[in-house]
This record gives sequence, C-alpha cells and structure tokens, in this order.
Amino acid sequence: MAKFERIVILTGAGISAESGIDTFRDAGGLWERHRIEDVATPEGFARNPDLVFGFYDARRAALKSVEPNPAHRALARLEAEFPGELLLVTQNVDDLHERGGSRDVLHMHGELSSALCTACEMRSPLDVPLLDRPACPVCQAPTLRPDVVWFGEMPYRVERIYAALGECDLFVSIGTSGAVYPAAGFVQEALMNGARTLELNLEPSEGSRFFTESRHGRAGEIVPQWVDEVLGS
Ligand code: OAD
Repeated sequence: MAKFERIVILTGAGISAESGIDTFRDAGGLWERHRIEDVATPEGFARNPDLVFGFYDARRAALKSVEPNPAHRALARLEAEFPGELLLVTQNVDDLHERGGSRDVLHMHGELSSALCTACEMRSPLDVPLLDRPACPVCQAPTLRPDVVWFGEMPYRVERIYAALGECDLFVSIGTSGAVYPAAGFVQEALMNGARTLELNLEPSEGSRFFTESRHGRAGEIVPQWVDEVLGS
C-alpha cells in the first residue's frame, strides 16, 4: 500500500454487523421491520414520542450484550500507530469504536449513549430509558429526545468533515451502503480533491464506481488486513 499522510475513514452499520448489531438495509435489517417515517423523522417523533423512545431505548439496551469486533479494534490500532493525520467519522450511533479502543470518533449521526434536550439544545450522557421521561440534567425540563440525527436534520460537524475531505490523500469507506447523504457524497468530494478512495464492504455500495479500489468481504477480516498494510506490519 502506498504511503499516505492524511486519511479520512467513514464507517457504517456493516462494521458493527459481526458484533451482532443489525444493519439498516440488508435483508432482515432495521428498515424492513420499522418505518423510517415513524422512528427516524422529527414528524414521527411529534406524532408518537413513546414509539420513538421505545425504539431507541431498545437499541441502547441491546448494546450491553455486544462487543467490538476485530474491525473496530484494527481501526483503534491504526489511530494509535499511524504517524500521519487520521479522522474517523462514523454514521453509527453505537459505541463500539470507543469500546474497541478508538479515542477520537466523530459520530455524525449522533449517539445512543447521549440525549438531546429540545428545550435547551444541550447534549447529555444518557443511561436510563427515555420512556421514563428523565429530566434534562442541564435545564431540568422533561424534554429529552434521542441524540440521533433523523432524516431531514443536519448531521453533526459536517464542516469539520468537509475540511478533512479537502485535505486527505486517502478516503476509506467501510461497511456502508452509500444510500444516505451527505455521507454518501464524501467519496466524490475526496476524489475531486485528488485523494485515492478505497471501499471495504461486503458488496459493492451504491457509489462503488467512485472508488479507486474496492475490496469486498467481511469487515472483521478485510479491515485488519488493510490496517496491517498501512502500518507495514
Ligand atoms: P446500511 O444498512 O445501509 O448498509 C450497511 C452496509 O454494510 C451494506 O452495504 C452491507 O453490504 C454492508 N455489510 C453488511 N455486513 C457487513 C460485514 N460483515 N462487513 C462489511 N460490510 C458489511 O447501513 P449504513 O450505510 O450505515 O442513519 O446506513 C447509513 C444510515 O442510514 C445510518 O446511519 C442510518 C440509516 O438510516 C440514520 O438513522 C440517520
């Protein structure tokens, strides 16, 4: 593998699949069993908050019985040992990158382990069910919602991500179908700025043609292999 100095990595649900977390669009995935309009839009939340609270409470509870897999751990090793700059962006709301050892993770779609207050707009750690209507630890109002970016909302820290995409010499997409923007457009942004682009996914994603190189397989196998190549070990 050529030498790179600035790497941006984007991960999606596929990197957590081997840990036992359902993806969204694979057969049997979350969006086959739940309607996006009901559980992942501000309108769905306004219509039936308890349904939305129950959906994200169950996903947060499920995190307790899963573990990071070799792909998460390999990216943590890359962060620790890569001498250049690395930005790890995830669309995932689970905490498996952190539990796998990554220190600096940009959760562009939010996190299950925090809540967002609709009154004061502060984000706070969350470890009780939202269905219990806990008070916001900052303003004390009972106005918490999942700290998850829904369809029609702006992902977190997009400016920071685009700045890194403008400077990176390698963009790597791992375990994402490339169906949801703006994340799906990161590959074209990186390509336009002269970066090499690498896809590590079970199958070709929707934007597969924009990748300079594609490797298809299970993240738990192909991600550690790639990290070994980058670190020259
Ligand atoms: P998807 O479910 O759309 O795509 C998961 C991708 O992972 C697919 O391309 C699979 O082929 C691949 N995959 C499955 N198992 C894998 C494995 N073991 N190793 C490698 N790849 C594997 O999930 P995302 O692309 O993450 O947003 O979805 C993007 C966004 O859509 C999510 O963040 C979520 C969802 O709606 C919000 O909720 C805002």
